Amino acid sequence: MSKTILITGASKGIGLETCKRFFYEDNSVTNFILLARESDSFKELLQELSDNNPFNKNVKHYFIDLADRELVQSVINNINVEYNNIDILINNAGFTKPESIQQIEFSDFERTMEVNLYAPFTIVQKMLQAGNKFELIVNIASTAGMNGRSGWLTYSASKAAMINMSEVMKAELSIYGTRVVCISPGRCATDLRKTLAPDEDPTTIMQPSHVANVIAMLESDVGRFVDSQNLVVRL
Ligand SMILES: NC(=O)c1ccc[n+]([C@@H]2O[C@H](COP(=O)([O-])OP(=O)(O)OC[C@H]3O[C@@H](n4cnc5c(N)ncnc54)[C@H](OP(=O)(O)O)[C@@H]3O)[C@@H](O)[C@H]2O)c1
Repeated sequence: MSKTILITGASKGIGLETCKRFFYEDNSVTNFILLARESDSFKELLQELSDNNPFNKNVKHYFIDLADRELVQSVINNINVEYNNIDILINNAGFTKPESIQQIEFSDFERTMEVNLYAPFTIVQKMLQAGNKFELIVNIASTAGMNGRSGWLTYSASKAAMINMSEVMKAELSIYGTRVVCISPGRCATDLRKTLAPDEDPTTIMQPSHVANVIAMLESDVGRFVDSQNLVVRL
C-alpha cells in the first residue's frame, strides 16, 4: 500500500532528517507533503529530493507560516481535496523565544502557542473533519514540557500542553485504529537548540538524525508495539 506522510517543519533539523529517512528508503511511504516557511534550506532540500529520487516518490511542498491560523486552515483544506488520505502526520515544527518572565512579550507567547500547539491541533481537527483516517500521528513535544526551565516559560508551557493534547488524541482516536505517539526529545543539535543554549557545543549532544530514526521506527513493524504516552528520546 502506498502511504502519504505530512511533515511540518521539514526545512531543517529533526523534520528535515525525518523527511530524508522516509524518502531514501524503499518503503511504502511514497507521497510527501512538506510544510515550512520559505527559506534557502527548505529550497535546498526540495532541490535535493528532486535531483536524487531513487524510488520515484512524490513531493508536494507548501511555504506556510504555521502561526497564521487562517492560512493553515486553507492549506489543509487544499490537502484534503488533493489527497485521498494522510496516513502519517509528523507534527514537528517548533518555535521558541526564551525570555525571563518580566521580559516576555505577549505576542511571542501567542506565536509560540500558535506554532507549537494550535497548528498541530488545527491540522488534526481539519483532517478528521474531512474524514481522514490517520494510521500514525507523531507529536513532537520536549523534555522541557515535562519540567519547566528557567527562562523557557512560553516554550515549556506549549510543550507541556502538547504532551497532554497528545494523550487526549490518543484516547479519542484509538477507535479509528490511529496510533498517537508523543515524543519528547532532550537536547538535540539544531537551530532551535542554539536559540535555547547558544554556548553549547552541538557536537556533544544528540543529532537530529537520531530523533528521525526513532520516528521511523514508530512507523515500522516494531513501532506498532510501542505504546507510550510520552516517549523520551535523549542521549
Ligand atoms: N533541538 C532540540 O533540542 C529539541 C528538543 C526537544 C524538542 N524539540 C522540538 O523538535 C521540533 C523540531 O525542532 P528542531 O530542533 O529540529 O529545530 P529547527 O531545526 O530550528 O527546526 C524547526 C522547524 O520548525 C519550523 N517552524 C518554526 N516556526 C515555524 C512557523 N511559524 N511556520 C512554519 N514552520 C515553522 C522551521 O521552519 P522554518 O524554516 O519555517 O523556520 C523548522 O523547519 C520542535 O517542535 C522542537 O520544539 C527540539
